Amino acid sequence: MKAQQINLRIPGPTPVPDEVLESMRAQMINHRGPDFKTLIDRVTDRLMKLFQTENELFVLTCSGTGAMEASIVNTLSPGDRVLALVIGAFGQRYSEIATAFGAEVSTITAPYGEAIDPEDVREALEADDSIKAVLVTHNETSTGVTNDLASISRIVDDEDRIMLVDAISSIGSIDLPVDAWRCDVVVTASQKGWMSPPGLAMASVSPRAWAAYREAAMPRYNWDFAKAKSYLENGQTPWTPALSTFYALDTGLEIMAKEGLPNIIERHAAVTRRAREGVRALGLSLLARDEVASNTVTAINKPEGIDVAELLKVVREDHNVVLAGGPGALAGKIFRIGHLGHVTEEDIDDVLTALGQALEKLGYQGGGPA
Ligand SMILES: Cc1ncc(COP(=O)(O)O)c(C=O)c1O
Repeated sequence: MKAQQINLRIPGPTPVPDEVLESMRAQMINHRGPDFKTLIDRVTDRLMKLFQTENELFVLTCSGTGAMEASIVNTLSPGDRVLALVIGAFGQRYSEIATAFGAEVSTITAPYGEAIDPEDVREALEADDSIKAVLVTHNETSTGVTNDLASISRIVDDEDRIMLVDAISSIGSIDLPVDAWRCDVVVTASQKGWMSPPGLAMASVSPRAWAAYREAAMPRYNWDFAKAKSYLENGQTPWTPALSTFYALDTGLEIMAKEGLPNIIERHAAVTRRAREGVRALGLSLLARDEVASNTVTAINKPEGIDVAELLKVVREDHNVVLAGGPGALAGKIFRIGHLGHVTEEDIDDVLTALGQALEKLGYQGGGPA
C-alpha cells in the first residue's frame, strides 16, 4: 500500500490524478474572453465524444442534483404526468424534484439490489397516454445496480415520450451511447467518472427535449437551457463558471481521450470483476446479482455479527482505505466500494487486503457463501 496515501473508494468524489490537481493551480482567466472560449469549446467537444452524442451539451456550475433539476424544469410543466423509475435513493430524489416543481409523478419501484423490469415500463406507458416523461437512474449508486437503459429507452422511444436520464455515476465509465439509445436529457457530474473534483455538472439535450422545452412552463432561471445555449454560442456560460474545476475537467478529459472510451469501459468492467470475486472470496455476500451489478460501485451486505460503522472505521484507521456506508434506509445494512474514474485493479486489491485484515481483527466468523 502507498504509505500514508488515502485510497478513497467512495462513489464520488473520486480520486483525482496528479496532472489534474496540477492543472488547478492555473491563474484565473476572463470568463468572457478568448481563452475561456477555447477551453469550453474543447471541453464540450470532448464530452460530446464520451457521451457519444451530437446533441447540444452544456456544462453547468453545480453538483449533479442541479443538472437533475435542470432536466426537469426545462422540459416539463406543472401538472404534467411523469413516470419515475425508482430503485434507490437517487431515483427517489429524481421523483421528488419533479414533484417539487408540480409534476404528477407515478413510480415503478424495485426492491433494493434489483433493477427495473423494462416490460413494466412498457405496460405503464401503454396504459397511460398522458405520461409525458420517464425519469430513470441509469446507475443507482446507493445500491450498486445498473438499469437496462438500452431496453428501457427503446420502449420509451417506441411510445414517443421524453426520457430524462440520471447518468451521474455511469456515463464516462459504463457504456451509454446517448444518441443510439435516444436519451433526451442525460446528466452527470465532474466528481464521478471524470477524474475531476466536484463543481461542474453536464447535461446533453436532444431535439425532442428542445421541442418539450418550447412548451415547458416550470419556473426556471439559473438552469434555463436556452440561456446556456445562447452563451455557449459565444464560448461562454451565462453565469460565472467554476474555472478551476474547468481546468481540472479539461485535463481529466485529455487523460480519458488518450485511454479511449472502449478501454475505459473495459477497465471499469475488469475492476468490478476483481471487486466482486474478491468480496466473495472473503466470504461476504453482494447486494446485487451479477446480471444487474454496477461497474462503478459495489454494494456488500453487512457481514454477519459485524457492525458496518466499526468495520469502515478499522479499514480507514488501520489501512487508509475509505469506503462508503449505506445511504438512508440501507445505513448499517450494506457498505460500498466506489470504483469509478481514476481506479485500477491494484486499488481494489488494496481494498480487499484491508477488508480481509479488518474482518479478521473484528473476529469475523464468516456469514456463509455469497
Ligand atoms: C446516481 C446519482 N444521482 C444523483 C447524485 C447526486 O449528485 P450530486 O451529489 O453531485 O448532487 C449522485 C451522487 O452521488 C448519484 O450517484
